[in-house]
Amino acid sequence: MEKIVIASDHAGRELKEDIKDFLKSTGVEFIDLGVDNDDSVDYPDYGIPVAEKVSRGEVPKGILVCGTGIGMSILANKFANVRAALVSDVFTARMAKEHNDANILVIGGRIVGKGLAREMVKEWLEARFEGGRHQRRLDKITEVEKKRG
Ligand code: RB5
Repeated sequence: MEKIVIASDHAGRELKEDIKDFLKSTGVEFIDLGVDNDDSVDYPDYGIPVAEKVSRGEVPKGILVCGTGIGMSILANKFANVRAALVSDVFTARMAKEHNDANILVIGGRIVGKGLAREMVKEWLEARFEGGRHQRRLDKITEVEKKRG
């Protein structure tokens, strides 16, 4: 069973809760790192712990939700080994795994409805990285990460 670490800010909380219900219904194990109420918070405070766990390999996959998804994706992609993909359609969610081996899925809670979010999470979880030429391309990104620190 794959474990997922999930978090949101206040703007993404409602969608995060629905994604948790979906994960529960499909038997996918997850760790919720907040936020757990509607008070306004700073999304990095919730995104950083998720990105750290994925970056260190403590948890294989993460899901982050903020208002647009932009802040969380900018943040998560600062971390070594993290490939965070901001998605708002099912095709992109699947390609994020097949071609980009995205290990964090980012969704905008003020952009995407619950049904679409569930479909995107399902596609991303079921998809498999294709490797080959896509691995070569990811290796080039990793080289950039290593050189620039
Ligand atoms: C919060 O108002 C909002 O700025 C945040 O959720 C996110 O959209 C940032 O990118």
